[in-house]
Amino acid sequence: MPPDAARIGDAIRALLAQRASDASICPSEVARTIGDADWRERMPEVRRIAGALARDGIVLLTRGETVLDPDVPPGGPIRLRRGPRWDDARDVHDGARVAQNAPMKTPAHADRPDAPPLPASPACERNRAPILDVLRVAFASRRHVLEIGSGTGQHAVHFAAAMPWLRWQSSDRPGQDLGLARRLALAALSNAPPPLDLDVAQGPWPVPASGAPRFDAAFTANSLHIMGWDAVEACFAGLGAMLGDDAVLVVYGPFNVGGAFTSDSNRDFDAMLRARNPQSGLRDLEAVDALAARIGLRLHADVAMPAHNRCLVWQRP
Ligand SMILES: C[S@@+](CC[C@H](N)C(=O)[O-])C[C@H]1O[C@@H](n2cnc3c(N)ncnc32)[C@H](O)[C@@H]1O
Repeated sequence: MPPDAARIGDAIRALLAQRASDASICPSEVARTIGDADWRERMPEVRRIAGALARDGIVLLTRGETVLDPDVPPGGPIRLRRGPRWDDARDVHDGARVAQNAPMKTPAHADRPDAPPLPASPACERNRAPILDVLRVAFASRRHVLEIGSGTGQHAVHFAAAMPWLRWQSSDRPGQDLGLARRLALAALSNAPPPLDLDVAQGPWPVPASGAPRFDAAFTANSLHIMGWDAVEACFAGLGAMLGDDAVLVVYGPFNVGGAFTSDSNRDFDAMLRARNPQSGLRDLEAVDALAARIGLRLHADVAMPAHNRCLVWQRP
């Protein structure tokens, strides 16, 4: 059985919490903490979980003074340090929110000896409950949702299961293999079909078969600050052509408001994103709202989420 992802994530955070805030740890220390004589066999999984935490900004992967891109599997030795969103992670693991912030889990099916573990994002595990609270209301009368940038598919599976009246169509860029198709296949939900290839900057956007209902809702999480601004513009242009007349759009993630960061951790996160890719970076809520207005979407709700994130809900007309 592969080592438990939650235990590894907890061990990484516990070891870093014991050290000075700028100290680093070696992944082998984590593997040894998990125990047993077979710690070397656990190293690939420790590195994979460290990569997932790095994508969420909870830790940094470093080599010397260089911060490594978590989307590029590092080949050589690495160390782990606290990342720009370390405090956010600690906050959401403290106190009353512990119950909804269950640590990362992989589905039971992935524990079969013949199946490699599914990539999993700890952030998805933490944010899915507060997002679902928003979606239950926003999508109460919706039928066909297109999700953009579905990543690992944890949101798709959770939301499709929790809102059985929806048909949840996930998608992501071709070649972005974070286990999306496999997670959906394992979940085998009748309302969550296999994912589509969709790069919002390239298209083609999904076209309903003749007579089939159009998408009347769209959702994306933590994607607008990853894609370049050109792609954000293309995303809204594509949504404009694809969504029906009474569509609802929900976007989750960190945003700047009034041209300013809303927290120090968001400022640090933005700096880390831009260091990795100058095209990435936190978006101004007002600039995104202007793109939405161009396609007839009116901002209906701006809901504060844990860890300085927001859920923005737009509606047509
Ligand atoms: C940080 S991940 C978020 C994944 C997932 N939504 C979540 O909340 O965990 C960013 C996602 O945006 C996707 N993405 C980036 N650029 C994109 C583009 N041009 N078209 C579609 N998806 C894109 C990535 O492939 C990735 O899945």
